[in-house]
Amino acid sequence: MAAKPTALVVVAHHRADSLTAHIGGVAAARLEKAGYAVDLLDLRAEGFDPRMTVADQPDWNDRDKVYSPEVQSHMDRILAAELIVPVFPVYWNSAPALLKGWIDRVWNYGFAYGRSKPRLAGKRMLWLGLAGAVQDDDFAPWMKETLDRVLREGVSFYNGITEASLEVLYDVEGEPQYVDAEGNFTKGEALTGQARLSHYEALDRQAAEYVAKLVSA
Ligand SMILES: Cc1cc2nc3c(=O)[nH]c(=O)nc-3n(C[C@H](O)[C@H](O)[C@H](O)COP(=O)(O)O)c2cc1C
Repeated sequence: MAAKPTALVVVAHHRADSLTAHIGGVAAARLEKAGYAVDLLDLRAEGFDPRMTVADQPDWNDRDKVYSPEVQSHMDRILAAELIVPVFPVYWNSAPALLKGWIDRVWNYGFAYGRSKPRLAGKRMLWLGLAGAVQDDDFAPWMKETLDRVLREGVSFYNGITEASLEVLYDVEGEPQYVDAEGNFTKGEALTGQARLSHYEALDRQAAEYVAKLVSA
């Protein structure tokens, strides 16, 4: 029997009981259902330190630099994967430090970029962000566009992964917050009871649908 293709799910959250970790599990389950062997990389559980180190800083004169054993093992996991799915909370319209540092240290010169034939070409990616913003907030479109530029274009495309998408799950707190045109902060009603349950079920379904789209692309 042919070996199953691998999907790498990267969970970037500092709490094991976070919604982000839960959605990472939803993504992993959907990938397994589609016939993938899932490599679940929980950056917190594995003690990944996002701070750049001298050992992992690029040497622009040496594309073949040997990075730290920890980073090398992450590179091997990326290479082994056909699909890569980072799941993360949106922090200040960007990736949280834990994920940003993973990209900084692991998606490195000579490995992910810096070669005329990119090693990661042919892989497919879904960046799945969780945001407190509600979808009809004025901020929402440019927040998504900013994330898309930075992560899909700036990281995936720059590193030779042309088939990538970025999706956002909105209103993940179930309690809207707005800043109006005058800069005033307002909090809306928090969802309760059945409405709250239905909201989180819908987020699970939405996450699974985004993964299904990646699988069938
Ligand atoms: C430091 C920080 C910055 C945040 N910045 C944003 C933001 O720019 N846009 C947004 O929609 N939500 C923002 N949020 C809300 C988070 O995206 C939301 O709380 C998180 O995705 C919830 O998932 P979790 O329960 O797994 O932490 C921010 C939260 C924190 C803690």
